[in-house]
Amino acid sequence: MKTIIEPFRIKSVEPIHFNDEKYRSQALSEAYYNTFLLHSDDVMIDLLTDSGTSAMSSAQWAGIMIGDESYAGSPSFYRFEKSVQDITGMEIVIPTHQGRAAEKILFSITGGKGKVFISNTLFDTTRANIEFSGAEGIDMVCEEGKKPTIPAPFKGNLDTTALRNYIEQNGSDHIAMVIITVTNNSGGGQPVSMANIRETHQICKEYNVPLYIDACRFSENAYFIKLREKGYENKSIIEIVNEMFSYAQGATMSAKKDAFANIGGFLALRNKDLATKCRNLLIITEGFPTYGGLAGRDLEAIAIGLKEVMDEHYLQYRIRSIEYITQKLSDAGVPVMLPAGGHAVYLDAKQFLSHIPVEQYPGQALVCALYLKGGIRCVEIGSLMFGKYDVKHQLVPASLELVRLAIPRRVYTQSHIDYVSEVIIEVYNDRHQIKGLEIIEEAPILRHFTAKLRQL
Ligand code: F0G
Repeated sequence: MKTIIEPFRIKSVEPIHFNDEKYRSQALSEAYYNTFLLHSDDVMIDLLTDSGTSAMSSAQWAGIMIGDESYAGSPSFYRFEKSVQDITGMEIVIPTHQGRAAEKILFSITGGKGKVFISNTLFDTTRANIEFSGAEGIDMVCEEGKKPTIPAPFKGNLDTTALRNYIEQNGSDHIAMVIITVTNNSGGGQPVSMANIRETHQICKEYNVPLYIDACRFSENAYFIKLREKGYENKSIIEIVNEMFSYAQGATMSAKKDAFANIGGFLALRNKDLATKCRNLLIITEGFPTYGGLAGRDLEAIAIGLKEVMDEHYLQYRIRSIEYITQKLSDAGVPVMLPAGGHAVYLDAKQFLSHIPVEQYPGQALVCALYLKGGIRCVEIGSLMFGKYDVKHQLVPASLELVRLAIPRRVYTQSHIDYVSEVIIEVYNDRHQIKGLEIIEEAPILRHFTAKLRQL
């Protein structure tokens, strides 16, 4: 097979600011070993997130110019609405400024004390919005999804046996909804199979529980179904996407991922009464229902991006580029999550830096080492992000110590990716010199964004 090429040409470029290890060492210490506190000009390859960091196409930029900024009834809204309807098959489309705004509106109405939201895995802001409403979030990912280095085709699946058992033991009246996150971001960007979505739908229908899809990476998930699930190999992406959404009563989406937009999101629904309540809240918090916190030009960019993301040449390149780097690392003995997910490479920091105890944040130490060695920025998904303290102020560590290198869409080329893998392998070969960290200042919630640390 020939090399899979980037399915685009580059018309406009942004410079990378080069710096050396000495400079980065100073920058890192000034940022208190927290890469969120770095100036992004000091980062050479930024893999902090794939959210809002995509390169837009020339068609999207052209759309920006025809964006209509009317307060009400803008034609850009109607193009946006049509794009979302074509994908989801859901009639009601409510624009929001990003994914978490759609979640906040939906959960404020459906959540509250005593309610429960069940998911394969809730993303951290999704969980935070559920808990903020007073409700509880429960993750029920399948067993394979809990084992980072053991490959399986659909590690993002929801554990349907656990769901059924939970309902049989606790009833279903208090379950606000089941949410399937595609792909499963916090679980390694792993896909969910159509069979699993269908089965979850059947259980939900049986017990009268609404099923929602957290659709941030819907197209990447559909491509995995096409590649890995029997019966889908000859279906088009739009057919697969339509079937995925056909099982759900609603969807929330961050257009900052699989819509190639720098900002935006939406809530799609079938239930008119619920939609009326959501729109009322939208008007207070986001804006009028035909713009919902977005400019007409953003609506236009999203409408176009949602179609572009289902192009199979793009998806082949996208999924292959993540697989390519994962393979290179795995071949060099680096402990990576297997198989490759849809949008990011996840390193197993507990194994990578086995000499650093979890109390010294091996994930964050690895994040710092990658910045120092190669100017690469990524994020810890481990005890700095999810760790809690017990009554004696001892750390209760997270279940996994991962480092996520999220690949922005259409931004970096193969040589950037080669460079990243070279840096990781070099750091791996010198790993014994890396030291642990301690926290010297932290906020009571979501501490990873602002914590200050010190090298031990
Ligand atoms: N759901 C999932 C699965 C996400 O990955 C995100 C964002 C959101 C919801 C919230 O969307 O940022 O538009 O409000 N994930 C980003 C990330 C931030 O880096 O993974 P948002």
